[in-house]
Amino acid sequence: MNTKITDVTIIEIPRVHDERGLLAVIEKETIPFKIERVYYLYDVPSDAFRGGHAHKKLYQLIIPLSGSFNVLLKDGKESKTVYLNKPHKGLLIVPGIWREIDNFSSGCVCLVLASSVYNEDDYIRDFNEFLAFKKV
Ligand code: TYD
Repeated sequence: MNTKITDVTIIEIPRVHDERGLLAVIEKETIPFKIERVYYLYDVPSDAFRGGHAHKKLYQLIIPLSGSFNVLLKDGKESKTVYLNKPHKGLLIVPGIWREIDNFSSGCVCLVLASSVYNEDDYIRDFNEFLAFKKV
């Protein structure tokens, strides 16, 4: 699995803006995978640590619907932290990328769109196993 940090991108979610506020729309053209699952994190303690794993095949779009948090990304060679704080900017995480999420703001809501239903077999939860998967 040779995906890299540079394959992780910010996706700009199209918005309609008028005097009544903003409306953000995700349609099938907006993201490069078919959505099979949607879940969200809320009531997250500010000192919570989430993630700490990679996926073998799953694509995800992570959107800070409200508030903000940090996503630390690792591909086995490089690492990078992305601060997400705009509800119209989602982070597209491709398969084979380790992620750790922390620094949640109070009242934060994190929406995740995923390319597959939940499958624990798709997770790599051990970092050494991740490095072996990446062949580094
Ligand atoms: P996990 O993916 O480890 O959460 P995070 O990456 O946010 O730290 O999942 C936490 C728990 O929730 C774990 O027991 C699996 C369960 N879970 C589901 O049952 N369905 C799901 O769609 C997800 C994402 C998690």
